Amino acid sequence: MIVAEHLSKHYGKTKAVDDLSFTVLPGRVTGFLGPNGAGKTTTMRMILGLDNPDSGAATVAGRRYRDIPAPLTQVGALLDAKAVAGGRTARAHLDALAVSNGIPRKRVIEVLRLVGLDQVAGKRVGGFSLGMSQRLGVAAALLGNPGTLMFDEPVNGLDPEGIQWIRQLMRGLASEGRTVLVSSHLMSEMALTADHLVVIGRGRLIADASVEELVGSSARSVLVRSRDDAALAIRLTSAGAATEPAPGGGLVVTGMPSGRVGEVALAAGIPLEELTPRRASLEEAFMELTRDQSEFATAGASIGPPGGFAPGVVGGDGAGGARAVAGPGTPWPPERRS
Ligand SMILES: Nc1ncnc2c1ncn2[C@@H]1O[C@H](COP(=O)(O)OP(=O)(O)OP(=O)(O)O)[C@@H](O)[C@H]1O
Ligand SMILES: [Mg+2]
Repeated sequence: MIVAEHLSKHYGKTKAVDDLSFTVLPGRVTGFLGPNGAGKTTTMRMILGLDNPDSGAATVAGRRYRDIPAPLTQVGALLDAKAVAGGRTARAHLDALAVSNGIPRKRVIEVLRLVGLDQVAGKRVGGFSLGMSQRLGVAAALLGNPGTLMFDEPVNGLDPEGIQWIRQLMRGLASEGRTVLVSSHLMSEMALTADHLVVIGRGRLIADASVEELVGSSARSVLVRSRDDAALAIRLTSAGAATEPAPGGGLVVTGMPSGRVGEVALAAGIPLEELTPRRASLEEAFMELTRDQSEFATAGASIGPPGGFAPGVVGGDGAGGARAVAGPGTPWPPERRS
């Protein structure tokens, strides 16, 4: 279990992490999501004792990282895959880690095989591709057979087969009862891999919820097609909904449940041809949540009409009690603004 309590860290005027608290439970994959610069890496570095928090604390299995005698046997982490001495061979790199943590050398061979690097174990890591370096980083994280694992953007640089592999690896590790925290800004990836999500923006907690809860509590919309969309749009707007033309005809209605849209149409005597409630994909839920939180927002960026993202659509009834914390300026539930 990883516990972060009121972690804060600033660099100069930048508040990288701001009073951040969350718990990562064993037996499931927890995705750590946030836009670029949200503070994911900084948080992970503080959990590993690589950076000191200005205030707050983080523990792994009840202890601060620096108080764990042979840390690799408790916590395995992959933060920066290229942060290895390039002159060493893969085997020498892992041997050194093993010796310093009292891990038998035969485990090095095991993990090299596990990550598919046994054929290049004698090659210098300086010549490794990013994908090979990621695999070596995973090998190092698994070396001490730890109960807690943290991966910072592990699919970076991996080919589709590698992505598939790491996804199965993380799920496997969690199913063995381990604590797995994985950061990403790839929503579709998290929809496939994570059970639970901790979402941050500008260093602050935005949501701590299951994937289903997060998607379910995000803004929904209704697609409606009628004999007279223009007239229906006017009626819906005066009844309090927001409408916009749907690609391919019809209207996308937000701020009103589908049943009420039907009632408004009925009252106006406008025959309907289609009435479809739509739920947001995880990608959209994330965009909604982090809209005001992205440090490097692109001017004019728009998420487009709802339902337009094919991958990563995740079901959920939305009835769950997502623990969500609205940051300054972040409405909760998030309102769709057009
Ligand atoms: N060593 C540092 N010196 C100065 N500023 C830093 C340092 N490390 C991080 N920051 C700043 O802290 C903030 C959080 O950075 P961090 O790397 O933790 O974000 P992140 O969520 O990991 O982003 P990304 O998705 O791009 O990896 C950013 O504004 C970043 O510029
Ligand atoms: Mg990062």
